[in-house]
Amino acid sequence: MKPIALTFDDGPDPATTPRLLAALAAADAKATFMLWGERVAAHPQLVRQVVSAGHAVGNHTHSHPNLEGLTAAQVVAELSRADRAIEAASGVTPSFFRPPYGVVNAHVLAAANRPAVTWRVDSEDWRTHDGERTYSRVLALVQPGDIVLLHDGLISTAEILPRLLCALTEAGYTMVTVPELLAAPLQAQTVYPASGIAVKM
Ligand code: NI
Repeated sequence: MKPIALTFDDGPDPATTPRLLAALAAADAKATFMLWGERVAAHPQLVRQVVSAGHAVGNHTHSHPNLEGLTAAQVVAELSRADRAIEAASGVTPSFFRPPYGVVNAHVLAAANRPAVTWRVDSEDWRTHDGERTYSRVLALVQPGDIVLLHDGLISTAEILPRLLCALTEAGYTMVTVPELLAAPLQAQTVYPASGIAVKM
């Protein structure tokens, strides 16, 4: 078993979420969607599809701010609004959050009072918008147990995902959700993975 967790940030998006779901289903792979509250409210049916396909969902805030610059009350409001939108769409309440830009510190963790999930492998799809580079970078860097950052809303990522999943499967990886990967119950005020390269404490 070489489990990894693919994570897709910033969705849902009608142009790409259905393509991601189709590719994941074809590869019998599970993933975690870190949902942007404003977009959840605009496309609740896509969130229902994500959840009914067996994928996990995380809270990526309501309006995608850098949380470091907010008061504790503002952090709570950002997460609560996204929680409510995700609940209304799917009936599921996210149990962890992904801080926008991977920016998290002790102040944000205390205010959020829930586990933060970042990543170890950044596909850099958000920067390159280049499917071939996303493919090469993930395959070069990934190791068993990794959490991998990818993005919903990028056509380049949606286009490359079927090939990427094929290559990962051929390399012996199993794509699971973040809760499945981490197995033990996640603790509030804790960042996963502990050695996350993007985490600023
Ligand atoms: Ni984001």
